[in-house]
Amino acid sequence: MLRKSVLLPFLTIGVSVLNAQSLKAKIKVDIERTVGAIDSLLYGNFTEHLGRCIYGGIYDPASSQADASGFRKDVMDATKQLGVSILRWPGGNFVSGYHWEDGIGPVASRPKRKELAWGTIEPNTVGTDEFLQYAEKINTQPYIPVNLGTGTIDEAKNWVEYCNSDTGTYYANLRAKNGRIKPYKVKYWGLGNEMDGSWQMGAKNADDYGKCALEAAKLMKWVDPTIKLTVCGLSYWSGGTAEWNRTVLSHIKDYADYISLHFYFGDRTNNYLEYMASMKEPENEIKQTEGIINEVRFKYKIEKSIYIAFDEYNVWYRTGVEEKLEEKYDLQDALAVATFLNSIVRNAQIVKMANIAQLVNVIAPMMITNDKLWKQTTYYPLQLFATNCYGESVNTYVQSDTFNVANYKGVSYLDVSSSYNPKNQTLVLNVVNRHPSKAIEAAIENQFGIPDKKGIAYEINSAGLKDQNSVNEQKVKTIEKSFSIAGKTFTYNFPAHSFTQLIFTIKQ
Ligand code: AHR
Repeated sequence: MLRKSVLLPFLTIGVSVLNAQSLKAKIKVDIERTVGAIDSLLYGNFTEHLGRCIYGGIYDPASSQADASGFRKDVMDATKQLGVSILRWPGGNFVSGYHWEDGIGPVASRPKRKELAWGTIEPNTVGTDEFLQYAEKINTQPYIPVNLGTGTIDEAKNWVEYCNSDTGTYYANLRAKNGRIKPYKVKYWGLGNEMDGSWQMGAKNADDYGKCALEAAKLMKWVDPTIKLTVCGLSYWSGGTAEWNRTVLSHIKDYADYISLHFYFGDRTNNYLEYMASMKEPENEIKQTEGIINEVRFKYKIEKSIYIAFDEYNVWYRTGVEEKLEEKYDLQDALAVATFLNSIVRNAQIVKMANIAQLVNVIAPMMITNDKLWKQTTYYPLQLFATNCYGESVNTYVQSDTFNVANYKGVSYLDVSSSYNPKNQTLVLNVVNRHPSKAIEAAIENQFGIPDKKGIAYEINSAGLKDQNSVNEQKVKTIEKSFSIAGKTFTYNFPAHSFTQLIFTIKQ
């Protein structure tokens, strides 16, 4: 859902990049003060039957890039390089009108349907078998939300049987007849999409949705008890209250493994600092939802964990259906995505899955123009996190200058998360310097163990905040540097409007 900003114009910031004098800051990390394990599923993605994401994106038999099954090899390569750990499909709003049996069997006999979420015609060329074999090719976990809008709990149950059961029953045999004997064993399933939203086909109130999701969940888990289920949390925070989450969880507490959150953000008032400050919202939503999860688990004595799946997030404010949601991202969007990733790493104890929406062309980190793939600015922070940020999230002390905008006061210019991976004894510090014109020199104190004498710094920056990439030019991308560490405390100068990832080893 594209949300309207509630922020008012307050400051207008130019795109000056003159680094006058550096500001000073302090960062302290102690690798013994861990927050929670960073789940690799934080680095997930999403492909919806929408615009040029599936047709003309991942799948395009007419392209010079197509493999024998019609899937683009360049998209597959860039997806692998991006480290996509889990891929959500087929929607989104699309799934609430989708009947999965339309998309199996011989392609020529599949029906064409009016698609009401985005106002198109769905040819059903890519369906369950095509998608699941695609996920296998790119070595990612598939994640399927079922249709709880116009669909039935029976359809949901049968979809699990089709994908996961050994042959011997009707839907598993149908899968075999369609060419796939071995079950796909899809572990992650969703119970509908954004069911709180009036824009959703078959939207429901919290009680009705909670009851329906519970009945679907029972049947799905009875078919395959090993699956993990995500229940729809509140997607439209400005239009509702967190009460939705409490009601829904109270119904489905015994079956839900995750509750979903969605968050779309952007520079809606053309005010850079307001945009950066608004990135506090995901953390506010995480904290509220974590509180409600704890309350429900305590009240009903639920032993098992329930986590947050942020299964849609991204920058989305420039384009609508007419533009097929083909946003072009700039440097500030890359900084916003890095800040979002910092928020979920800082809350790794409760956020265990996240999916940027979406993979290609549609609000996406990669685009195809004239049959050529290119990388948007937002590709690079995603790639850095998914490549390097694993192990334990580490509590990090940050003291830096702050700024005020209309709705947020005392916002730190530096936004930081960190991780320590005991497997390779590597500390990763993820630092966004949100200052529009000044570098910030931070004294970084390592409080436990002996750091190596040098480290690697990856930096994403560009001359102007509104710099974009294109099919011809990569203005915003990652550059690699090295830096020295002299003793327990060292200084690092974070350039204005940049994202930096510092990596070094610590021996205990
Ligand atoms: O990602 C685009 C759309 O945003 C999804 O279909 C929907 O779930 C959300 O509102």
